[in-house]
This record gives sequence, structure tokens and C-alpha cells, in this order.
Amino acid sequence: MTLPIRLQKYLAQCGLASRRKAEEMITTGLISVDGKVVTEMGVSITPGVNHVKYAGKEVNAKEKLVYYLLNKPKGYVTTLSDPQGRPIVTSLIKEGGARLFPVGRLDLDTEGALIMTNDGELAQKIQHPSNETNKTYEALVRGCPGKERLSLLEKGIDLEGKMTAPALIAVLSSKGKNCLLKMTIHEGRKRQVKKMFSLIGHPVLHLKRTAYGTLTIGSLPIGSYRQLNSADLKKIFL
Ligand code: URA
Repeated sequence: MTLPIRLQKYLAQCGLASRRKAEEMITTGLISVDGKVVTEMGVSITPGVNHVKYAGKEVNAKEKLVYYLLNKPKGYVTTLSDPQGRPIVTSLIKEGGARLFPVGRLDLDTEGALIMTNDGELAQKIQHPSNETNKTYEALVRGCPGKERLSLLEKGIDLEGKMTAPALIAVLSSKGKNCLLKMTIHEGRKRQVKKMFSLIGHPVLHLKRTAYGTLTIGSLPIGSYRQLNSADLKKIFL
């Protein structure tokens, strides 16, 4: 249930004005609550219950936009609910208030960078193909693909009847008979990374997303998250 708050605080939270300016609006008679002009300080209202108007127009609570970078653990789904009762990523962000959703998806067994926000516009911008937002993955693959095989992915490969855009790939290390590779792509087709490596005969054994653009997961522990500021948000598109 929403708790009552001071009228001037509500006006400020709605982005109408600063707290001080909101007080001025009240004392000069510009604000009404449930049809009655309020000119005194000290009135409280309940958002969603009382109707607050400024210049005859309803003032509505604007949800503050928030952004988090989560290091998704394996075993969590990136949907908002799961009929099979598996844990969902939103349950990992212990911040009250905002209704968060993940930007894009990661498979159940994929770890790593997942942006969580309540900003639908930014989410759309990140995911819109025309923006070609880079996503970088670290993939442990079976065996070690040679240059020729990797060049198939670097050039673009026929994936279910449609060519993939060129990928940027680097071999990071070899782990026994297997290899750790880094791949940057801007497309976001379902299970794209796994399918691309399977197509060249080197199935993915473990997958982690390490970055959106130049916004990297760094040393953020698995299951932890950090709040993103405007400088971080710019990095997504760099
Ligand atoms: N590509 C995949 O194959 N899986 C993911 O989770 C993300 C990208």
C-alpha cells in the first residue's frame, strides 16, 4: 500500500518542481487536492488515492528511472515469471520500489552482464538492431577452432537461413583440450553465440557475457549488481 506523503514532496517527486518551488506553488494557490485549492503547508496526500492538480492538470507520480548491472548466475531465468518455478533474475535486485525488467535475455545456463532497469526507452534503444549495440561474450568451447573456422564467424555465417553480421573474435587461452574465446557481436538472436560456435564444430561448454559496448562486468561477483550512472550508460553505446 502507498503511504501518505507531504504534498510538496509529492510534487517534487513527480518532477513538477523542486521542493522549494513546489511550496511556492502551494502557497500561491496553484495546487488543488481532490478539487480543493490547498494553500497551507502540512497537507499530506496518498499517491494513487488523492487527485492532485496543477493548473487544472492531474499531477502523476513519475517512477524514477533506475539502472543496474547484474552479474547473472547460472540457473536464473531472464523472464519475469516462470511456470516451472525456477528463480528469476529480478529477485536478485534487493531495491524496493521500481518495477525492473532485464534488457534482453541470457540463457538459463549463461552467466554475466545483464542490465536491469525500469526505463523502457533505453531498453528499446539497446535492443534495436539499428543501433548495433555490441555485446561481448567469453565462451569456453570444445576443442580449439583454427583460424579458418574462426574466419567463418568473423565474416558472417548462415544461421538458420540468415547470415550473421561479422563477429570480432580473439582466442584468450587454451584450457586442456578446450579453448576460451572472446566474441563481440551486435545482433541478439536466440542462443546466437552457442549456435554460431556449434556451426563451426566447437560447441559452447560455458558462456558468460562480459560487456555491453564498453560497459564491462569487471570484478562484480556473480549474483551481485551495481547501480549505473549516466557515464556508465553512455559506455553501452561505445
Ligand atoms: N548467446 C547465447 O547463445 N546464449 C546467451 O545466453 C546469450 C547469447
